[in-house]
Amino acid sequence: MKILMVCLGNICRSPLAHGIMQHLVNEKGLDWEIDSAGTGNWHCGKAPDRRSIKVAQSYGLDISTQKARQFQVADFDEFDHILVMDKQNHKDVISLATNQHQINKVQLFIPGRSVPDPYWDDTQFKPVYDLIYARSEKLLQEFLKNID
Ligand code: 4NP
Repeated sequence: MKILMVCLGNICRSPLAHGIMQHLVNEKGLDWEIDSAGTGNWHCGKAPDRRSIKVAQSYGLDISTQKARQFQVADFDEFDHILVMDKQNHKDVISLATNQHQINKVQLFIPGRSVPDPYWDDTQFKPVYDLIYARSEKLLQEFLKNID
């Protein structure tokens, strides 16, 4: 299984989702590939935001070696599931799809709602981490149920 986490900058939210989900699947001994990307290209090649690195570190997770990259059309074919952090990400990714099969791979990380962007508010990194962690556990259960 290949899962891509997507947000705007690929430095705050999707690197956390990437690191957390990779940790959870590794813990289960699953040989799944998790990656992340941003719809924007401003931070390409950079490590995650230091505040995301710090909050992950506080939970024993090292995301410091990740490198930001921009979402590309080839990702539709490369990944089984494309999980987007907010509704704008959803619009932006869908706008690049060329067929229904690609559109079907895209879903909001949390059904019906956006993961708040903590970029402009230092106090939001921990709540966003907790939100992403809780949802990742549920998502993993759902994926496992569906491949049984
Ligand atoms: P992210 O947060 O989409 O969770 O990585 C952001 C990071 C950078 C910017 C916006 C959101 N920015 O405007 O540079």
